[in-house]
Amino acid sequence: MQLTFAEHTAKTPATKAKSSKSAWVVAVHENNQLTALGKAWDKTTDGQISEAITAAKFSGKSGQFLSVLAPCSVPVGRILLMGVGNAKKLSELDVQGLGGKLLAQLNALGITDATIYCEGFEKHTAAECAANMAYGAKLRSFRFDKYRTKEKAEDRPTLATLTFVSAKSKDAAKHYEALDKIAQGVFLTRTVVSEPANIIYPESLAAKAKELSKLGVTVEVLGEAQMKKLGMGALLGVGQGSVRESQLVVMQWKGGKAKDAPLAFIGKGVTFDTGGISIKPAGGMEDMKWDMGGAGTVIGLMHTLAARKAKVNVVGVAGLVENMPDGNAQRPGDVVTSMSGQTIEVINTDAEGRLVLADALWYTQDRFKPKFMVNLATLTGAIIIALGSSRAGLFSNNDKLAERLYETGKKVGEELWRFPLGDVYDKQINSYIADMKNVGEGREAGSITAAQFLQRFVNDVPWAHLDIAGVAWTNKDHDLCAKGATAFGVRLLNALVEEYYE
Ligand code: BES
Ligand code: MN
Ligand code: ZN
Repeated sequence: MQLTFAEHTAKTPATKAKSSKSAWVVAVHENNQLTALGKAWDKTTDGQISEAITAAKFSGKSGQFLSVLAPCSVPVGRILLMGVGNAKKLSELDVQGLGGKLLAQLNALGITDATIYCEGFEKHTAAECAANMAYGAKLRSFRFDKYRTKEKAEDRPTLATLTFVSAKSKDAAKHYEALDKIAQGVFLTRTVVSEPANIIYPESLAAKAKELSKLGVTVEVLGEAQMKKLGMGALLGVGQGSVRESQLVVMQWKGGKAKDAPLAFIGKGVTFDTGGISIKPAGGMEDMKWDMGGAGTVIGLMHTLAARKAKVNVVGVAGLVENMPDGNAQRPGDVVTSMSGQTIEVINTDAEGRLVLADALWYTQDRFKPKFMVNLATLTGAIIIALGSSRAGLFSNNDKLAERLYETGKKVGEELWRFPLGDVYDKQINSYIADMKNVGEGREAGSITAAQFLQRFVNDVPWAHLDIAGVAWTNKDHDLCAKGATAFGVRLLNALVEEYYE
């Protein structure tokens, strides 16, 4: 799909040969207030637009659409009215959401090319609206269809070109160019998260990360021998039942001053989680291909930061393992020694993400002395029970960092909810035979005890943990994301960096 920006002229577009599969799109405000352009079109169509509105259940509420068959004299097949509600209240995110909805609507109508007439609202210029609407449409358009070799053309999205018309279209194009760099990172994340586990495994995902070097990211990949030397017994224990070699990917973007401490983002990258010897039930186990969603987000985020040449130093670390049961797999009851020197009794081999992160977090703070660490992980089923699929869990040892994350999440529509940490929970992971065990007491406060476990490896560095188990994947369409991998966190963390640290 091609997105273009064109300059607004006072006239309606020059007449060309009729194309029935194309559409003009114009906003309608609440209570069916037409824009100046809408009124002009209404006139040229002998009142057909207002007639269609009267005949339909349409009031111009945000997100409502009304598709009007265009009269023969008009060169497009349809005029699509897009309800925007009270335009004064629209935030950037709202405008993006409208773009996403619009894309879905146009595809549902079988439109091949559409021209959207954008205007400015109270808070935003027409060019900003055009760029944000295009960005929303772009985000919604992601589709992972490479393995559908027999899909019929009529089942595929029809839209080939979207043209956004506004005053100062050059500004719109420029603004969009910046937003598109975020979309690129989001698409990279969605792609690697969507890939099945026979295609994306630790080495192949590390190879994907390596490609970021084209953008100026320094990428190192540590294999099992190097990790063994570093003493990463917790991470290595998880991967030891797999024929795939575990990897630790270290990505550095140096856009800031040489002496500035970097920001650090760490991702859980379990490329497939069978549960190990504490094996999971068969039903739904295929979902565990996206148990590398945290790592996927860190890789996509690094892409975006490098592509937009962010003026800041950032380290991305991805702990990549496959959690399989075999003759060499770790057993419940095994004791492993982490890089920090702390020993862990592995009660449940399915609580593997925290073991991977334990070494990845320790390594990151030890080597980079970062300003803060934020880790992302599809860590616990319990977070889905607590929050469902609309928010990720936020855990932090630092109020300022937590507050910034929370606020940024609201702004970009990747929302968080903070959970408590504390001694009562921490005590639950003490072990009789080692420094700690990898699960709490029963299922009580499962997401919090997991976070407490991580906290034992952050060494007082300002840190936040995002449990994204409920949001990394969606089974229903959202405005900015069709069913499938969401890339939750790429937009959030990019905005966090941009807003507070550049
Ligand atoms: N990867 C899972 C968590 C998960 C569940 C992610 C569902 C996405 C959807 C994690 O490794 C896991 O298995 N956690 C266990 C922990 C338990 C054994 C303490 C869980 O949540 O059941
Ligand atoms: Mn697990
Ligand atoms: Zn897992």
